[in-house]
Amino acid sequence: MSHEKVETNIGLMIVLITLVILVGGLIEIVPLFFMKQTNEPVSGLEPYTSIQLAGRDVYVSNGCYGCHSQMIRPFRAETERYGHYSLAGEFIYDRPFQWGSKRTGPDLHRVGGRYSDDWHRLHLTNPRLVVPESNMPGYPWFNDTPVDGELVANKMRALRLLNTPYTDDDIKNAPSSLEGVTEMDALIAYLQVLGTHVSTRR
Ligand code: HEC
Repeated sequence: MSHEKVETNIGLMIVLITLVILVGGLIEIVPLFFMKQTNEPVSGLEPYTSIQLAGRDVYVSNGCYGCHSQMIRPFRAETERYGHYSLAGEFIYDRPFQWGSKRTGPDLHRVGGRYSDDWHRLHLTNPRLVVPESNMPGYPWFNDTPVDGELVANKMRALRLLNTPYTDDDIKNAPSSLEGVTEMDALIAYLQVLGTHVSTRR
């Protein structure tokens, strides 16, 4: 009888459905805040250096995430192709993370060390130079666009407020270490460190 009451009273039904979703959601989400596995860095993880951080911003501002994910799922087809599946503790210093879900191109989470810097330089300038059938756009202007070191230092300051362990020296040295560095250099430095902190790579 009480079931009939709920099914014939849309207001009551909405309230009860909301309640069920809220409780279910909390049970799923709250434990994640307290699990070591999801809120501590994997061993050996370092914050991005100033050049890697600058490269990450080139990646974000040019929308590379529109065609590339950085999230290897724990399935055989994925791990055979890309290497060890992604772990939450690898993204502690990624704000925001670049997991994505659109894969026009391959996943990039473990692309670090897979190719030489020169390969990336050619590929990013014009992908057809190294992969003839590629439909990825070229980004030749990265080669002569300088990185703004002061801006990177400011970003490091902001990230430190969010608990990324940068030292005063890291921040002070950022502008001088980025003198003469192009967006291409920075992006390659970033790509080369991606996913290299987990030792169980293939
Ligand atoms: C329109 C979609 C598209 C965009 C945007 C795009 N890519 Fe790609 N990318 C691809 C495709 C397709 C491939 C596979 C063919 C190739 O290697 O060129 C690829 C391949 C790659 C590879 C080689 C991966 C591997 O494991 O072989 C890297 C590295 C890469 N892209 C980096 C980038 C970066 C960095 C950006 C942003 C500056 C970017 N891509 C933007 C489509 C895209």
